[in-house]
Amino acid sequence: MAELSVNVDHVATIREARKTNVPDPVAAAVLVELAGADGITIHLREDRRHIQDRDLKLMRQMVKTRLNLEMAATKEMVLIALDTKPDKVSLVPEKREEITTEGGLDVIKHKNQLKNVIRKFHDQKIPVSLFIDPELAQVECSKTIGGDAIEINTGKYSELKTDSEIAKEFKKIQDAVDAAVKLGLNVNAGHGLTYKNVAKIASIQAIEEFNIGHNIVARAVMVGLDKAVKEMIEAINQRA
Ligand code: PXP
Repeated sequence: MAELSVNVDHVATIREARKTNVPDPVAAAVLVELAGADGITIHLREDRRHIQDRDLKLMRQMVKTRLNLEMAATKEMVLIALDTKPDKVSLVPEKREEITTEGGLDVIKHKNQLKNVIRKFHDQKIPVSLFIDPELAQVECSKTIGGDAIEINTGKYSELKTDSEIAKEFKKIQDAVDAAVKLGLNVNAGHGLTYKNVAKIASIQAIEEFNIGHNIVARAVMVGLDKAVKEMIEAINQRA
């Protein structure tokens, strides 16, 4: 059964809209765990637009499942992560001006830098996942540089409109997952996934974990976090 790690960044987005102290993403993380999620994901961004350093510190103490820290492979973030020791880190590309993560990490282009960063985490026994587009060369390079897992970027898949485009991208995802499994990488997926489109992606049995944020928080505003998380777990288990 594929697992669900809920990204609670956008609970913090609502708080930061007023620079106040509610809603608290740390409290949200507790509720998400009580609803049955397998992990909590947060992205500490360079510009601190949602998650703050305080959230990371408190979540490190409170989260009882698994804390996955999404981060850019910058000097500052690596130091913070090595100090906080999340259960795992997911390396993502980051641009200040983007609304959300745009595209996967180009592990081929940044392979030397990423290799060094991965080694630092491995010295602390922290596994590293690389967020990449479903491209075979990126999958292979992720293995070469020492990644433990890949997270397939489903952002493009989620945005496509026509059946033929969707089928083509689905095939790319499937091929990338197959290649990763052959190389002995753990496989996760995420970005842009919704209650509607997750079952189809979850039909790829080798995907072990989904990282889903915005759609769950959006639904939670309407029906509450507990229901929103439970419905996503159900949607994943429906495996089209
Ligand atoms: N995975 C990664 C690497 C991400 O950067 C994000 C967005 O923070 C997600 C998953 C979750 O995406 P969404 O909020 O669209 O579900």
